[in-house]
Amino acid sequence: MYNFKVKSVVHDYEVQFIDNTHSCLLNELRDGDFIIIDNNIVRLYKDIFDPILERTRHICIDALESQKSYQGLIPVMQQLIENGFRKNHRLFAIGGGITQDVTAFTSSVMYRGVDWIFFPTTLLAQGDSCIGSKTSINFGNYKNQIGGFYPPNKIFIDLAFLNTLEPAHLQSGLGEMCHYYIVAGEQDFFRYKNDYPLALKNKEVLAGLIARSLEIKKQYIEIDEFDQKERQVFNYGHSFGHAIESLTDYRVPHGIAVSYGMDMANFISVKLGYIPEKVRIDIRELLSQIWQGFPIGDIAIEKFKAALGKDKKNVGTELRLILNKGYGEIFKDAMKMDDRFTAWLKEYFENEL
Ligand SMILES: NC(=O)c1ccc[n+]([C@@H]2O[C@H](COP(=O)([O-])OP(=O)(O)OC[C@H]3O[C@@H](n4cnc5c(N)ncnc54)[C@H](O)[C@@H]3O)[C@@H](O)[C@H]2O)c1
Ligand SMILES: [Zn+2]
Repeated sequence: MYNFKVKSVVHDYEVQFIDNTHSCLLNELRDGDFIIIDNNIVRLYKDIFDPILERTRHICIDALESQKSYQGLIPVMQQLIENGFRKNHRLFAIGGGITQDVTAFTSSVMYRGVDWIFFPTTLLAQGDSCIGSKTSINFGNYKNQIGGFYPPNKIFIDLAFLNTLEPAHLQSGLGEMCHYYIVAGEQDFFRYKNDYPLALKNKEVLAGLIARSLEIKKQYIEIDEFDQKERQVFNYGHSFGHAIESLTDYRVPHGIAVSYGMDMANFISVKLGYIPEKVRIDIRELLSQIWQGFPIGDIAIEKFKAALGKDKKNVGTELRLILNKGYGEIFKDAMKMDDRFTAWLKEYFENEL
């Protein structure tokens, strides 16, 4: 299968596609290692994990946003310390992005850094978050406010986990992966658009899309791991997306909110003369399939503007938006929240949702 290495300032790491998590995990585990695993994975995959968990020290967590917070981490760290977890032992994360963030953050601070190994089980984690080193936890109601960059030492991707994923989480992963393909260029975008309906039925197609998505992300994180410059294009769709997530109390999953966000960024890009309407419509044909079943037409514009104004990437009162000058030409632009911008948002909410 497709295996590759990612270069990192912290330490290089390897991504392997596997088809037998049980034997891979048994092969990797050493005395003293601890598993941090999502309760839903334990429940859904008893045959794989029960025999291993019987003889390996582990912590089961609920994949809830409240778990990735200082309060949520206290019992995790307490169990590690009280049960003889040492600096030469490793943490194994098995779950989606929440389990990843809990384990990555813990690994980065325990004893000033311990090794960790990741088995991502959601599409979002397999096709996006597993590489890139980010380790954020929440602070109160504020998402991903605290953290750093601390990649795993190895990542093992087993597509079999996706069989039990809720359709909304599958859609969300496909929405998140989409932005990589628009950033990469026209050929990649149309491949994604073409493969999208097939990926839902055919694992080979899905595996190809995951691998390419990671390959695109790898090119950027290897030159700008700490998100100072080139990597920032991956915020495409995210300023609008985060506003949608928070105003819908996270009822709209991240990748679906980002799909709306990309469409909004494209709408503004047309208004500014950056892309022709045809490009916006070609992309919207795909995005509208991804966000199906998650309407957001009831969001009030004033609240939307207020949420956009809180984006941590803003400078002073100016927004920093990632806009579109064409496939493969995604870039950062400054934008005043003036009457013109408000009128465009109003037009979008009235006519496009
Ligand atoms: N560190 C990063 O780079 C990064 C990047 C993107 C997102 N994130 C974070 O990731 C989190 C979202 O992660 P996510 O969407 O991967 O999922 P998640 O961890 O939030 O899990 C979503 C749900 O799916 C369940 N689940 C997990 N695997 C399953 C499977 N194989 N079958 C059935 N159910 C399964 C979980 O129990 C949970 O109920 C957010 O907190 C987000 O901030 C982190
Ligand atoms: Zn995202």
